[in-house]
Amino acid sequence: MWREYINAITIEEALKTLAENKNNAKIVAGATDLILEMESGAHKGVDVLVDVSRIPGLDKITLDEDNVIHLGPMVTHNHCVASKLIRERALPLLQASWEVGSPQIRNRGTISGNLITGSPANDTISPLMALGAELVLRSSNDERVVRLEEFYTGVRRTVIQPDEMLVDIRFPAMSENQRGVYLKFALRRAQAISLVNVAMVLTFNGEIVSNAFITLGSVAKTIIHAEAAERYLEGKVLTSEVLEQAARFASDASTPIDDIRGSAAYRKEIVRVVTLRGLMAIADGKEEENIPQEPILLWGNRTATPSELSQQTRHDGLKPIETTINGKHYELQSGQEKTLLRLIREDAGLIGTKEGCAEGECGACTVFLDGVAVMSCLVPAPRAHGAEIVTVEGLSKDGELSKLQQAFVDEAAVQCGYCTPGFLMSATKLLEERDRPTQDEIKQAVTGNLCRCTGYYKIISAIELASER
Ligand SMILES: Cc1cc2nc3c(=O)[nH]c(=O)nc-3n(C[C@H](O)[C@H](O)[C@H](O)COP(=O)(O)OP(=O)(O)OC[C@H]3O[C@@H](n4cnc5c(N)ncnc54)[C@H](O)[C@@H]3O)c2cc1C
Ligand code: FES
Ligand code: FES
Repeated sequence: MWREYINAITIEEALKTLAENKNNAKIVAGATDLILEMESGAHKGVDVLVDVSRIPGLDKITLDEDNVIHLGPMVTHNHCVASKLIRERALPLLQASWEVGSPQIRNRGTISGNLITGSPANDTISPLMALGAELVLRSSNDERVVRLEEFYTGVRRTVIQPDEMLVDIRFPAMSENQRGVYLKFALRRAQAISLVNVAMVLTFNGEIVSNAFITLGSVAKTIIHAEAAERYLEGKVLTSEVLEQAARFASDASTPIDDIRGSAAYRKEIVRVVTLRGLMAIADGKEEENIPQEPILLWGNRTATPSELSQQTRHDGLKPIETTINGKHYELQSGQEKTLLRLIREDAGLIGTKEGCAEGECGACTVFLDGVAVMSCLVPAPRAHGAEIVTVEGLSKDGELSKLQQAFVDEAAVQCGYCTPGFLMSATKLLEERDRPTQDEIKQAVTGNLCRCTGYYKIISAIELASER
């Protein structure tokens, strides 16, 4: 899929490679979009990938002295979900990050990647627009700041240039007199694209709304402001009549299309309903209701920090991928142009990890990369260089099944067994994260894993049994 894969360790190195290879190089962050787009032939001519995930410090979320929040370019959805600062000062962004895919996708997918892919259905664009975000774009000889509203020129089209890297996402932290919420409406509860999404941030002077931002996703070519609703709310108290009228204005602002997920008329009505729900949640002080207090991350008992590299590495077929799998050192000469899933199976010969869908949907390929659960079908193989991988073969010790594996046997949670390695990996991380998870937490943990045989009851019982034992 690529001729050359570079693991950069400074931003300068990454920018230099982009400048040298203008139209045939691309940055790769979590690769959850890029790998599938490259497979489908969407980036013809691109054969150099610059991985920025090993550059130290890019996964930080900070608040500066002017009360501005900064997200580094490697901040993932789960970094936002886990952040106290984002919960307290940018709740709509946390709620949007929580809605993305599954835990494994949230562990790799970044906010930067989500903004740059730029699908109008993407979750984090509308909250960041409602929060007034700006993007800092840097090339080897320039830096510019672009308001998020001005970043998009059409469906999946942005103003970023091939030699530019997004190095900072910044927006004012919400203050005490501001309230906000993000709501997504989709056809299922996880791993689903927005049919409609709505973000809102309202500023209050006592009970009166002094300022309102309402943004709508998946209802136009790019994320849009519901301007008439925003203007209408200014100077108003949130009575039920006001909420209903504002929701109607929001619906009028949307210009959705008919597609396989819903008709335009249906989407317009859903904009009204979801906007009304959001405004009601704010009016009732119930904005936090759709998000668990301590969401499951599948980080286990650690934080999500990538393993460090001492120098930039260039994989062009000559340099082996040196990696640790299940505690054993591997030096793999072949496989640098593959996914990590294929590298593990075909080059390292560990076939416990399964390929179900090869597009991040089924979880059969779940492994731990630098300690957190990820979909290995969406990880480029050279990302494993200098990293730590654990596969299902690493769960048993000295030939003895782990407590969880034994519980799967005892509860008959396995039929054909194809999905089982993935479930075991997700549940192993869950049990590191929580001694006695609730049923809801177990469900959160396995939202990225599909089983076609057992139904999920026995799998959930097995995880409960292992936690009891
Ligand atoms: C199964 C599945 C489910 C998903 N569910 C959802 C969902 O529910 N909601 C949703 O919004 N998205 C979803 N996604 C899409 C995807 O996971 C997100 O868009 C993710 O945030 C992309 O981030 P990434 O780090 O993986 O980007 P990458 O794939 O690494 O990159 C995406 C694009 O951004 C560019 N890029 C990345 N970082 C930079 C940078 N710093 N500077 C310049 N260019 C950069 C890359 O060159 C590439 O063009 C899903 C994807 C999958 C596979
Ligand atoms: S999620 Fe990777 S194979 Fe299905
Ligand atoms: S046991 Fe067959 S797919 Fe889950």
